[in-house]
Amino acid sequence: MQPLPYEPVPGDGVVLRPPRPDDVVDLVGACGDPLIERFVPSLPSPCGTAEAAAWIAMAANRGELVVADPGTGRLLGGCRLYHLSTQDRTAELGYWTAARARGRGFATAAATALTGWAFRHGLGRLEVLARPDNPASQRVALAAGYRWEGRRRGVEYGRDGERYDLVAFARLATDPPGPAPRAVPDLPGGRLSDGVVELRPLGPADTADVVALQALPEVAATTVGGAGRDLVRMCAEAAGEWLAGSTVRLAIRDAASGAFAGDIGLFNFEPVLGQAMTGYTLAPAWRGRGYATRAVRLLAGWAFAHVGLARVIAGTVPDNVASQRVLERAGFRREGYQRGALPGPAGTRIDDILYALLPTDLS
Ligand SMILES: CC(C)(COP(=O)(O)OP(=O)(O)OC[C@H]1O[C@@H](n2cnc3c(N)ncnc32)[C@H](O)[C@@H]1OP(=O)(O)O)[C@@H](O)C(=O)NCCC(=O)NCCS
Repeated sequence: MQPLPYEPVPGDGVVLRPPRPDDVVDLVGACGDPLIERFVPSLPSPCGTAEAAAWIAMAANRGELVVADPGTGRLLGGCRLYHLSTQDRTAELGYWTAARARGRGFATAAATALTGWAFRHGLGRLEVLARPDNPASQRVALAAGYRWEGRRRGVEYGRDGERYDLVAFARLATDPPGPAPRAVPDLPGGRLSDGVVELRPLGPADTADVVALQALPEVAATTVGGAGRDLVRMCAEAAGEWLAGSTVRLAIRDAASGAFAGDIGLFNFEPVLGQAMTGYTLAPAWRGRGYATRAVRLLAGWAFAHVGLARVIAGTVPDNVASQRVLERAGFRREGYQRGALPGPAGTRIDDILYALLPTDLS
């Protein structure tokens, strides 16, 4: 394989080019952003004029390209290939967009252009590695055709001296063009609502509400796998888990006021069976109003129509009559009694009543 040339790469609405000395001001402006400091260890931090000039002077050695506006030539972001293996014909792809230029498709255009260029120059596989709590970057990877592959432990050595897990996405030269397929799509318009209850993807802004909810003894006792769980991390990584298609977590909100009322999710996806499990919790002030029933019906209706599930299952411990009533009112049918199905406190096992909902049960 020939060494990769260091040259401008045209893209859709962007051009990738080697940095120039007159990029210094824009680079200093871009590097001052907290997301860049956190997620892009290859950029200088702190970054004054001298550090930016030094980075530009060294850029060719590191394959750093600037993503620029094709009309004005002005810096919008950056993109590069690194960890190149000529033996395996693989590399990693990194990208960043200056805060002032985000949300306009520049990172996706740059990633798509450099990926196609790399394949045309003989590479066979490219990876994107993103932090689990960086859904914007993960969305760019998926949009540029990179498929979710898994989580690598402690790959990145952060500026703070901590090691961080990274989520790996990869694209092969032989993959079909276009975005990577996703098992679980986004919600239409970003939410589900029946006019009374609204479901929105859980995120970092919900952390305090989720922590308060899980602190309730009856909630902790009925949450499978809840003991010792890092709820800050759970909320920070929920969007990434959704993109991976592994777990769907939503906040239940009062549609009128927007107040947080609880949470609900889909877990244990079994794609071959077309089945997943739901679980939900309401804060005490919102119980007894039918909100959980509405939330389950909204979520299941979406899962049948848009995720392609054929069954949504749920389990409750035998004495959790309130939850059983929710499931029955939502249309679920009791299907079985599973002895010792759930892990209990101190190594015990708890019996579980199994319920299931089929699309025909929702009408
Ligand atoms: C990640 C980053 C490069 C995206 O740049 P961008 O130019 O805004 O990206 P695009 O406009 O091409 O695409 C943005 C995608 O992220 C989504 N997005 C934007 N901000 C988001 C946020 N805060 N949370 C979740 N998704 C977000 C957009 O909806 C879009 O996804 P879609 O195409 O599925 O709708 C930019 O946010 C950034 O520079 N972040 C800091 C550096 C970084 O994280 N680099 C990657 C390191 S692995």
